[in-house]
Amino acid sequence: MLPTLADHAETARAVLPPEVWDYYAAGSGEETTLQEAERSWGSYRLRPRVLRDVSVVDLTTELLGVRVASPFVVAPMAFHGLAHADAECATIQGAGDAGCLTVVSTRASRTLEDIGGASTGPWWFQAYLMRDRGLTEALTQRAAAAGARAVVLTVDTPYVGRKNKVSGVRIAVPDDQYLVNLAQHLLPGAVGRESAEQDPSMTPDVIGRLAEISGLPVVVKGVLRGDEALRCVEAGAAGVVVSNHGGRQLDRAVPAAHVLPDVLDAVGGRVPVLVDGGIRGGTDALVALALGADAVLVGRPVLWALAAGGAPSVRVALDALADDLRHVLAVAGATRPADLDATMVVPAPR
Ligand code: FNR
Repeated sequence: MLPTLADHAETARAVLPPEVWDYYAAGSGEETTLQEAERSWGSYRLRPRVLRDVSVVDLTTELLGVRVASPFVVAPMAFHGLAHADAECATIQGAGDAGCLTVVSTRASRTLEDIGGASTGPWWFQAYLMRDRGLTEALTQRAAAAGARAVVLTVDTPYVGRKNKVSGVRIAVPDDQYLVNLAQHLLPGAVGRESAEQDPSMTPDVIGRLAEISGLPVVVKGVLRGDEALRCVEAGAAGVVVSNHGGRQLDRAVPAAHVLPDVLDAVGGRVPVLVDGGIRGGTDALVALALGADAVLVGRPVLWALAAGGAPSVRVALDALADDLRHVLAVAGATRPADLDATMVVPAPR
């Protein structure tokens, strides 16, 4: 039997140094938002269709011109080098082998060129606007040259959330990992870490600017309100990710699952809407897709798989999610994500 997502998490917990496990697992503040994320998908109930021919199910999904085998996307996460020696190169290979799209973090532990070279599938580059905006622009252009097909601009992190419940999250990421993609742009002796911190003065004009300098569509990640999503679309966003950053930014922020309908309503189909936070199985994804999301991002389960067994385990995890979604889709009376609609989901009885 192939290992499940839960098996990978158990193995990761056993093999990772405790402070690395804590850094990956942690949420900010009291971890209210973190804890609610996984439960939130279970707060919906399904109204399946019947008497449909569901003998063939097709999960193929198109996102901004990229065709992928399933709607599961690897979320951008920092420092895969803490989980596995091959770091993001292993993650992107495992995901590509599963036919999935990967979003590569600004804080990757390998260079964008190495990651692009190792990729076996499509990828997008996640940008943080850094205090030295030239660094972000240089990285974005390098990502485009290395093969990234879109930029994901994360907007929920003017300052990094305080993960104070778990003392071990104060891990010291060595400079060679923290600055791996920046070193070549920094003058010798420059204060690398400060110029690479997030710029808290970011406003919507950055969306257009990154699109212009990269020639790529810019997807905005970290929106929890319809009005803000609309603001991003009006500023040129080519997509929106409804996300509370895996409960790592503003604690007591709402679950993405609960505000997804508001965002979809405001966006009105103008651009694709993705969602993340606590997606742990096919039924979670089914709810998200039925509400109207175009795809779902998966975070921590991918890191657990990476730690447990590198690229092959990442592939196993993403294949397992797709297999589970294929099954529940059929049992709900659908043969493809596009068959689902919001009449199929209702709030759970209290
Ligand atoms: C993240 N996330 C994140 N997001 C981002 O835009 N840039 C980043 O560098 C990171 N780094 C990061 C590190 C770690 C260890 C985690 C767990 C998360 C947030 C990530 O993209 C995503 O929004 C959440 O992780 C999704 O929630 P789940 O699937 O982990 O519950």
